[in-house]
Amino acid sequence: MSEMNAIRAHHRGGPEQLTYEKAPRPQPGPGDILVAVRAASVTAGELDWDATWTDSFDGSGHDRTPTIPSHEFSGVVAALGDGATGWQEGDEVYGLVPFTRDGAAAEYVALPAYAATAKPASLTHDQAAAVPLAALTAWQALVDHARVRPGQRVLVHGGAGGVGAFVVQIATALGADVTATVGPNDLEFVRSLGADTAIDYVHQRFEDEIDPVDVVVDLAGGRTLAKSWNVLRPGGFLIGIAAPPDQQEAERHNAHGVFFIVEPDRAGLESITRLIQEGRLTPTVDRVLPLTEGRAAYEALEREHQRGKIVLHIDD
Ligand SMILES: NC(=O)c1ccc[n+]([C@@H]2O[C@H](COP(=O)([O-])OP(=O)(O)OC[C@H]3O[C@@H](n4cnc5c(N)ncnc54)[C@H](OP(=O)(O)O)[C@@H]3O)[C@@H](O)[C@H]2O)c1
Repeated sequence: MSEMNAIRAHHRGGPEQLTYEKAPRPQPGPGDILVAVRAASVTAGELDWDATWTDSFDGSGHDRTPTIPSHEFSGVVAALGDGATGWQEGDEVYGLVPFTRDGAAAEYVALPAYAATAKPASLTHDQAAAVPLAALTAWQALVDHARVRPGQRVLVHGGAGGVGAFVVQIATALGADVTATVGPNDLEFVRSLGADTAIDYVHQRFEDEIDPVDVVVDLAGGRTLAKSWNVLRPGGFLIGIAAPPDQQEAERHNAHGVFFIVEPDRAGLESITRLIQEGRLTPTVDRVLPLTEGRAAYEALEREHQRGKIVLHIDD
């Protein structure tokens, strides 16, 4: 059996479980493509998700350790499984690997052909790897769930982070008036992404600063999520990305509380690709680390502030 280098965890836990080691190279199943990964990126909270460790989203599934994390990637098609269509060896693709499969912190990843999209030509693989999971989360929140229309008011909590930087840019591209809460050093940054208003969440109370909004996208959870009902207009959408909004509060405020888990979505990623090609969406890469530093990348997510995404560079 041929081997590859990968970041793997043999036991459930945090970054301390991650090891750079040899692993079997995956085989593309029916309908799959095998991708030679050029870059992958890491997501806050990923090692807490049941799907990272089992084959279900609620912990009821089978243990699938040793597991490979990092579910967004950019790379080159290396082989096609039986019945896989739409791609040829050598095509440059990017995409989101379904969470209940091994991820892309490895030299190769196998995924359903439908979960990949042509990589935007204007981006390097390192930049492209920072897009699929985070931008699709933003897209599905704003377009599929909240159905944001031009002129609506959108508030995003955590607008300088991995997902938030895409929420700000996509909401702006949809014609919304965007307010972002960010740390004190990110006020100018988030304005440069298109935010009309930036609020310092450390020194200001967002609920005192803004008029009611149509949509809140919350990437912080906890008290920030709970206080957001107070700034939502009746009929509005509170989209919790880090944690589910309270449904009783939703009823009390005559509004919608939505939680969802981002899914591979070729049409959505193609729309995102168009925004990138039009120059209206730019990935924010906080730093690029080699695959050998995979554990350090996950440690940094827990301990340090980032602007945008941390990317693992795997191969040229
Ligand atoms: N449901 C899904 O499908 C899905 C998909 C992707 C991510 N997620 C989850 O969504 C969350 C965010 O992911 P991410 O990749 O964007 O993480 P991230 O890059 O760590 O960004 C989170 C941002 O929130 C900011 N923040 C922290 N406390 C805040 C507060 N009280 N008010 C406003 N902003 C605050 C942080 O700023 P500072 O660094 O300045 O503190 C940071 O910029 C994570 O829990 C992740 O697991 C869920």
